[in-house]
Formats: sequence, C-alpha cells, structure tokens
Amino acid sequence: MTATAPLQFSLAAQAEIKRLLTHYPPERSKSALLPILHIAQAEFGGWISSEVQDLVAETLGIKPIEVYEVSSFYTMYNLKLVGKHVLEICRTGPCMLRGSDELTEQLERITGAKVGGTSPDGNFTLKEVECLAACGFAPVVQVREKYYEQLNTPEAVDAMLDELRNLVHRPILSWEENGLQNSLQTAASV
Ligand code: FES
Repeated sequence: MTATAPLQFSLAAQAEIKRLLTHYPPERSKSALLPILHIAQAEFGGWISSEVQDLVAETLGIKPIEVYEVSSFYTMYNLKLVGKHVLEICRTGPCMLRGSDELTEQLERITGAKVGGTSPDGNFTLKEVECLAACGFAPVVQVREKYYEQLNTPEAVDAMLDELRNLVHRPILSWEENGLQNSLQTAASV
C-alpha cells in the first residue's frame, strides 16, 4: 500500500502565511486564523476539509477545535466539496425586496443546481447568505472576492454566468490585495 503524502501548503501559500503572521505578536498568532483559512480554502480546491483544518491548526500551533469552531461559524468557509465557482446569494431584506428570490430561482433553473448544492457540470455551487453590505446595489451575489451587483435583469445574470464560465482563476493574492481590490471595485461602481 502506498503511503499518502502529508498535506502541505504550497511554497507561495507558506510565504503568504509567514508574512501575515508578522502582523501579530507571536503569542497572538491565532489572530491570523481568518485570513489563513481563506488561503487554505483557495489552496485546496475552494473548500476546507477536516484534514486541511488540522493543517491550519498545526500551522498556527493551536488546537483543531479552535479552527473548527471558527470555520463552522462563518458562511464564507465551505466545509464540503463545492463547484468551480461558489455563488453566495444575499437573501437579506433589501436584496429580497429587489428580487433575490427571483434571482435564486433563475440561477437554479439556468445552472441546474439547488441552493446548497452544485450544478451537474460542476461549475456552480449556490449558497444563500446574509447581507453582503452592498444593499444599495441589490440584489447582490458574491463570488470569491468579487461582487456582482444589480442582478435584477436576465441580461445581468447571463453576463455574470458567462464571465464565470470563462474565468481562469488567478493564483492566491495577498489578503490586503484582495481587500483593496474589492474596495476599488465598489468605489468605481458608485
Ligand atoms: S441586503 Fe443584500 S447586500 Fe445588504
């Protein structure tokens, strides 16, 4: 029987984690847990298995339960296998008033996925989430670090899905770069 190689972060991810940890005193390294979980999710196929969470715990020198209790609290972490793109559909009041129910139905019909599941072609997983803090641009869907806004026309939904079908994933960006990019996109659309 062939032994399975232990799970490891890539060198690029290791370098990014090392850089992140310089932001915190050594005795507070657990404070880097959220961004490191994002790196882990990007690194290991868009979801974080219990083995990956154990690796995160080992990397931070904390107990696995300390990782599990955080990863299971936040909806942005996927704890089971997902499709190539995870569409997080906001269902809170303002988005609902602007058609998030119809948007969800439309996405289910076009992709063949049900909320909580993945399309037969493996391209799309649909999730419902609470307010994405872009209520002025409702209804909103988040896919990784990008927001797709004002999705209340069939054309806007088709354009989003076409873009995603043709998207080639970029390598891991730094945490700060992702945050900055998101802010710039929001500012540009105002
Ligand atoms: S209610 Fe959807 S972004 Fe706030």
